[in-house]
Amino acid sequence: MLRRMLLAASDSDRTRQLVTSTPVTRGLVARYVAGETTADAVQVTRDLVAGGLLVSLDHLGEDTEDPDQAAAVTAEYTGLLGQLAAAGLARDGRAEVSVKPSAVGLGLAEHGVKTATENIARICAAARQAGTTVTVDMEEHGWVDATLRIVAELRADYPDLGCVIQAQLRRSAADCATLATPGSRVRLCKGAYDAPESAAYPTKHAVDRSYARCLRVLMNGPGYPMLATHDQRLIQIAAAQAALAARSPESFEFQMLYGVRPAEQRRLASTGAQVRVYLPYGSDWYRYLVRRLAERPANVSFFLRSLATAR
Ligand code: FDA
Repeated sequence: MLRRMLLAASDSDRTRQLVTSTPVTRGLVARYVAGETTADAVQVTRDLVAGGLLVSLDHLGEDTEDPDQAAAVTAEYTGLLGQLAAAGLARDGRAEVSVKPSAVGLGLAEHGVKTATENIARICAAARQAGTTVTVDMEEHGWVDATLRIVAELRADYPDLGCVIQAQLRRSAADCATLATPGSRVRLCKGAYDAPESAAYPTKHAVDRSYARCLRVLMNGPGYPMLATHDQRLIQIAAAQAALAARSPESFEFQMLYGVRPAEQRRLASTGAQVRVYLPYGSDWYRYLVRRLAERPANVSFFLRSLATAR
């Protein structure tokens, strides 16, 4: 219920105004976001890579409403990839990028799919030149079909293009089977967006069970699974499934969000596992922050207090 309310609040302009203008929110932002500039993002990437972690950078922003903005977001990504390459951070995919289709045009009133496809293709070309990869994030459930179509089309030229699957959706085990072709990169997460019961499992327990099912499909398939979760039980199940499938540590990776369970990120990496940190940066952090709060009840009182003191 609280999660639903918070996710609904993320769409409210009034709430956005209150939260973004409240100084107390800054501490939370700093926990989950690398900073506002490309230089901040490159610096935090350098620190994480030096600590033995891999990185996927996300330029914050979604629901782009005009083609110029979509082009500007695309240019930000291609510029970022150039800087990562120049700093030696993109080599062998150490730092890659994650892209939200709606940030590069999917939601445009006209030619949304075409615009997003062309922009993601530009980012893929820059990533290839930098020596790294791109992963396409998954957003609202209504966009899943379009996103999967974009990924399928672009994989003809960029077979290493990664795609996210949300275990909360009832369709996801079947999608995992379709996507997990030889060499393909699939990131499995629980899902951070609200979705109706017709499309999504209604309880945390059912989502966790779905995650375990999808995990089994990916681990036993010919692709490269990327297990995005902070859930200790699912991390243990993933490690057990990898052992059962006789997978080497280089044939899959764990992924976690910047600022969430950093000690566990380092611990896992110290065991020889590959661990990638999802690192958001940019000034448009509001909706990303609200999704993180919705996952973490302990942070909610902090959030509500920030609203109360903003008046
Ligand atoms: P769960 O929410 O059950 O959390 C397990 C434990 O982790 C909690 O008990 C707590 O200890 C800790 N934890 C989790 N979230 C926390 C937080 N915000 N702050 C502090 N502690 C926290 N979603 C999506 O819909 N589309 C996408 O493309 C992506 N992409 C993506 C990439 C990567 C690398 C990750 C790690 C996650 C995503 N997500 C996502 C988000 C994902 O769907 C999910 O909402 C979060 O990862 C939280 O789910 P967990 O699997 O961690 O489980």
